[in-house]
Amino acid sequence: MKGISVGLLGMGTVGCGVVKIVENHQDKLIHQIGCPVSVKKALVKDLHKERSVSLQPDLLTLHSEEVLDDPEIDVVIEVMGGVEDTRHYILRALQNKKHVVTANKDLMAVYGSELLAAAAENKCDLFYEASVAGGIPILRSLVDGLASDRITKMMGIVNGTTNFILTKMDNEGSPYLEVLKEAQQLGFAEADPTADVDGLDAARKMAILSTLGFSMNIELDDVHVKGISAISSEDLQYSKKLGYTMKLIGIAHREKEKVEVSVQPTLLPKEHPLANVQNEFNAVYVYGEAVGETMFYGPGAGSLPTATAIVSDLVGVMKNKRLGVNGKSWVTPQFQKKLKEKEE
Ligand code: NAP
Ligand code: HSE
Repeated sequence: MKGISVGLLGMGTVGCGVVKIVENHQDKLIHQIGCPVSVKKALVKDLHKERSVSLQPDLLTLHSEEVLDDPEIDVVIEVMGGVEDTRHYILRALQNKKHVVTANKDLMAVYGSELLAAAAENKCDLFYEASVAGGIPILRSLVDGLASDRITKMMGIVNGTTNFILTKMDNEGSPYLEVLKEAQQLGFAEADPTADVDGLDAARKMAILSTLGFSMNIELDDVHVKGISAISSEDLQYSKKLGYTMKLIGIAHREKEKVEVSVQPTLLPKEHPLANVQNEFNAVYVYGEAVGETMFYGPGAGSLPTATAIVSDLVGVMKNKRLGVNGKSWVTPQFQKKLKEKEE
């Protein structure tokens, strides 16, 4: 039985998690997709860096073509971050008829439509569950689980780093910079944590959530953003005395064709369900006209939770392959219309 061969772009916090899950959950993967999965190559910047997994000989490479142009690689997993290089790499992988899984919200929030179009044209899947809320399967829940409903509101904590910082400052009175450093050491923060603390990472996730949840293209520029860098431990202690907790909250609201999306520090009464989401955990509240209120909760960052979402996307790709429907999932109705017009 021919196995599935995977190429990684990046092998840092999340990439090493992918390698661990592929190795440790091989029995479950074979059960799900009917054949073994192996990681054949991984693009990195530094061949000699210490990594949290043991490396098979010749796994690492400094040359992207060894991943993107290798005909034996079926699926490319992009976990290197950044926008312009990754955009070109993913386009090339798709042109080479490789399915792609990415955790990159910076990329998907800006170039999502272009990349999804390229995926559809090449009859390849492009999945990005890990780009929003780490280990919580929120994108699949919006696209599949709530497919029959009309979603009108989404609200939540979608950045693990800032929630970790605010929790530690609130509970322990720890200084902002010290907790930020801890979040970086634990692998929650972005390579440049400015995107986390300024709210941009959460804004990108809210743009992706509202595009899928509301089935319309929501641009990053449409999201009003304010981060947490101006908040001090004193602000949090004072709020606590008044019975409130500060959280970085993303809100997306739809009324007919009018949509408002924002990210900002928000005071919540301490009995509010989102006030009790601690550390790097995320939670997303989704309101659908028929289903009413739903809530999704889980680890929003970190190696294994994020890698779980990625490897589950890989399983999704292989299940689609068995059904012969690659390139048709996670495409918004508006985008499907455009594709149809192009075909005619
Ligand atoms: P990371 O630990 O910094 O790993 C990045 C990896 O990519 C490293 O292996 C690095 O190589 C490689 N890399 C970076 N730029 C490269 C380049 N130009 N050429 C070749 N290799 C390059 O980052 P991470 O935390 O795993 O995050 C990866 C992606 O997942 C990002 O898009 C991030 O937003 C997303 N994400 C992260 C989390 C999380 O909790 N960390 C959660 C969800 C999504 P070296 O190892 O040699 O330096
Ligand atoms: N830096 C991101 C966060 C990683 O803290 O939520 C997960 O997307």
